[in-house]
Amino acid sequence: MKAAAAVAAAAAATAGCAAGFYLVNNPATCTKCPVGSYCPGGIATKSVIYSCNWASNDTTVGLTTKAERSTSRAACVNKPGYKHVPSTVGKPSAALCGPNTYAPGFNKQKACTPCQSGLKTDPSVGGLQINATVCKVPPGWFYTGTAAVRCPKEYRGGYAVSTAATKCDSCPVGSTTKHSNSTLLTDCKVLKPGRFWLNSNTQMQKPEPTTSICLQNSWCPGAIPPGHYFSAAANTTVKCANGDAANPNGFYQPNWVQYTGVATTCTACGAGILSADLESLNIFRPSDDGSTTWSPAETLLVPMTSDSCYIRRGQGWCWLLAPMSASPSTWPSPATPTTTAQTAPTRAS
Ligand SMILES: *[C@@H]1O[C@H](CO)[C@@H](O)[C@H](O)[C@H]1NC(C)=O
Ligand SMILES: *[C@@H]1O[C@H](CO)[C@@H](O)[C@H](O)[C@H]1NC(C)=O
Ligand SMILES: *[C@@H]1O[C@H](CO)[C@@H](O)[C@H](O)[C@H]1NC(C)=O
Ligand SMILES: *[C@@H]1O[C@H](CO)[C@@H](O)[C@H](O)[C@H]1NC(C)=O
Repeated sequence: MKAAAAVAAAAAATAGCAAGFYLVNNPATCTKCPVGSYCPGGIATKSVIYSCNWASNDTTVGLTTKAERSTSRAACVNKPGYKHVPSTVGKPSAALCGPNTYAPGFNKQKACTPCQSGLKTDPSVGGLQINATVCKVPPGWFYTGTAAVRCPKEYRGGYAVSTAATKCDSCPVGSTTKHSNSTLLTDCKVLKPGRFWLNSNTQMQKPEPTTSICLQNSWCPGAIPPGHYFSAAANTTVKCANGDAANPNGFYQPNWVQYTGVATTCTACGAGILSADLESLNIFRPSDDGSTTWSPAETLLVPMTSDSCYIRRGQGWCWLLAPMSASPSTWPSPATPTTTAQTAPTRAS
């Protein structure tokens, strides 16, 4: 059939070609319209070949045809990796799929298909995005079986196919990362409470940060004890300030706080309120390496909670409740009053 049609078309070459063929004049032949082009046929002057990619005539990009012997521009479809860009003047074109999308092509799809389930394309990989295999689990994420989610305080490097990224890498014992979706072992630079870096030179460093557990309740670089804060100025752990008559602002601090290299704070008792070292903290000194058969913990008195806050003679407690709202649904919580000290009015003598 095909051969017969070609012969028939060739015979009519001087008169022009059938649709799907174009005229080659020397010797006069009607030639099959190849893939990527269309040939309307007709009288000799109309029996020409047009590229689907009218702007460049390049048949290796953008638009193509599903088969040879196409007869009109309507047969032009987007190639895999491209979307079909319609035209109001009847001259459609094609554009490459952008990040995190793909297109199987041959279907005039106006938008590329987005990667599903949180998967992303790897920007370092060139080439056409023709199917869902270009959608990968991004660095710092792992695949749960149904979706990509951030590594929780662990890490994972590189773009990976979902089956190769079903879990994240654990940080070395005693360390963790600052935030989820971390990508490197060296992101494991946050000490867990009660740990310290074994080698201060390699702390927070590659290849393997290693930590050790602090002696129970000891002063430890990994933790700031209750009643204390880390002072950047002093570059050490300092007891919360009690305040005095000249600076009547006392502070307290109830928790073991993880030391991450940045300054921490104590909580203010309230304007004009002092704090006293009233609460006991049992703690081992750094010099106590545990080698003594039985060395008792030292008991320090520190301002640990608001119980250590006090007011001076002549002052009274004043509870500042938030102003009541016009809306009855938003009563101020009675659990969170703020306090301030007021000097009692001087009695007339
Ligand atoms: C593409 O080919 C047509 C003839 O089919 C020609 O008229 C046109 O100038 C060509 N365009 C480019 C950009 O080469
Ligand atoms: C998906 O596309 C890649 C190229 O990106 C190709 O190697 C692979 O064979 C394709 N897979 C399927 C199922 O089409
Ligand atoms: C990782 O998370 C941070 C915030 O936690 C965000 O700014 C960043 O864009 C995320 N990166 C990736 C690759 O998800
Ligand atoms: C803080 O002290 C540590 C040792 O305890 C020292 O390694 C570090 O360099 C000091 N930092 C500053 C800014 O002085």
